[in-house]
Formats: sequence, structure tokens, C-alpha cells
Amino acid sequence: MDDRIVTGDALHEEEIIEQSLRPQILDQYIGQQKVKSHLDIFIKAAKLRSETLDHVLLYGPPGLGKTTLASIIANEMGVQLRTTSGPAIERPGDLAAILTSLEPGDVLFIDEIHRLNRSVEEVLYPAMEDFCLDIVIGKGPSARSVRLDLPPFTLVGATTRAGLLSSPLRDRFGVLSRLEYYEEKDLASIVERTAHILDVEIDKNATFELARRARGTPRIANRLLRRVRDFAQVKGDGRITEALASESLEMLQVDRLGLDHIDHKLLRGIIEKFRGGPVGLDTIAATIGEESHTIEDVYEPYLLQIGFLQRTPRGRIVTHAVYEHFQMEVPER
Ligand code: ADE
Repeated sequence: MDDRIVTGDALHEEEIIEQSLRPQILDQYIGQQKVKSHLDIFIKAAKLRSETLDHVLLYGPPGLGKTTLASIIANEMGVQLRTTSGPAIERPGDLAAILTSLEPGDVLFIDEIHRLNRSVEEVLYPAMEDFCLDIVIGKGPSARSVRLDLPPFTLVGATTRAGLLSSPLRDRFGVLSRLEYYEEKDLASIVERTAHILDVEIDKNATFELARRARGTPRIANRLLRRVRDFAQVKGDGRITEALASESLEMLQVDRLGLDHIDHKLLRGIIEKFRGGPVGLDTIAATIGEESHTIEDVYEPYLLQIGFLQRTPRGRIVTHAVYEHFQMEVPER
């Protein structure tokens, strides 16, 4: 399922290539104006006061640049970045080992921070608040607690599900930044920048053609660029024109709005079997042979975002925009 070309999650082989494309400083980072201008001020203020930056929580859908921003924050502050993730920190001792190895001012990036378990989270609270660790030494009646000082650090947490964060954890972040889906013009600029780094020639119109089909997500835009580059090299002269871009994306089954065969199956299923809805999630799941939670967590968010689906108390409804997109007649309700 996650080999979808339009998934916001990173595919296996993408981590290395993404690192080489990543902007290094805020000035190179395109889009997310609000988040960027806030971070710019907080970073400058912290540097003027020679303090560490407040802890930052970045949340929003996958592929929008949370990891990139964490590494930019470290670069701008002139400190090291340590990267880990919620599921990778299994025991309190794992987190203690990471925290005690930090240098003063370092940025600790915890991806998928909503997946930290409770006992690990409890180590994090005093670490974030007072830069210290409470360690219990010994067992039974002779056990006692020792406080260990930590170097001051900045925690940058990232999550796709801010609602799943416990409130004591959320409350300990000084800066909460929500990343939004990117505008088309920003995605086009990102495509242009990436093409330049990859040394691919691309027409301006083609950058917009890719941007329109990238579902508001830089990771998808850059992925489409790499696939279309293959077409350009094999079928053309290496240059990406608008016609070549749209032709190759049609072949890859990414339509004009970035919808793929799975989106089509879902939307057409609701139209053809349930006259456009309302229809319950479980009924849709059974009809198209997918799990309900996969539909809800993976397939629906973008369709809701572009106004193709609506959630109502009586179930899902496809909107008129879907009929227009498929060039179908809107049925009488
Ligand atoms: N590559 C991926 N995301 C980017 C962004 N927001 N700005 C510049 N390049 C990027």
C-alpha cells in the first residue's frame, strides 16, 4: 500500500536522496511563511541572549518538512543535531543515554514523538523543564532518587498526530508550529530548486504541472520529479517539458489533481455503489476491500482537504467537485 507514488511517507530508498536535497538554512526553505518567520525571530532572539532555543513542536501531515526544519534549526543555532524517534526509544535508560551525551545547546530531534511510551515520557518532563534527570538507584526500601544535571538543550518534536500527544508533554513546548499543505507556486519553486541540484533541465510550465499533482507535499513533488526525469531521459532528450511531464504522470496514474488509482477506486466506489453517499466507513471498507482505519488515516485526509469528501453524521459523501473531476453527471439526490 505504501508504495503509492503519492504517499507522503518516505519510501525506503528516499532517505539518502532527501538528505542531499534538503535546504540547510531558513533562507533556502521555501513556503510555510508563518512557521518560518516565527522560527526566524525565536532563533535570532535566543542567539542575541546566548540562550538555547525553546523546545519546538512541529506538527502536520507527512512529507511537509518537519525533519528538514529540525536540521535547519540546528544549523542556524550553530549546534549539533541528534536525531531519534518515538518508537526507537524503548526504555527510560535509552533516553537517559541520549540526553547525557548531548553537548550544551544541542538540538535533539524526536520524530513521531506521539509514539513515546509513558515511562520514557516521564523522564522527558524534568529534562525539558529543568534540564535534569531523576534516576532511581537501588531497589526496595533502600532505593533512592538522584538528580543529575543535563546540559541545556532544545527538543524539537515532530508528529503527524498532535491530538495524540499527552497534555503534560505538549505543555512543555514553548513553540508549537503547525505545517500546512504547500501552495502550488511554492511547490513549483521547490521543484525548480531540486531540478537545479539534480542538474535536470525543466520548463517553468512543467514545474507547475508537477506542483499541481503533488498533493501540497514537497516530498511527493520531488519524487514525481525524479520519476519524470527517467521518462525524459529514456523517451525524450533529457529535458522536462510540460507535455512530457503530463504524459509521464498519466502513465504513472497520477491524475491532474494528484489522485491515484486508490483514490479513484474509493471515490468511484461511493458513486457507483452508493449514489455518492452518505455511506458508513465500514461499508465502504467492505466494498472496496480495504481496512477502515487505512481509509480513514491514509486515503481520506487529502480527499477531505481538497473538498472531494465530506464526513457527516450519516456517513461519507462525495461532493459535486468529484463528479466534475470525473466528467460525470451529478445525480438527483
Ligand atoms: N525541499 C523539500 N522541501 C523544501 C522546502 N520547503 N524548501 C526548499 N526545498 C525543499
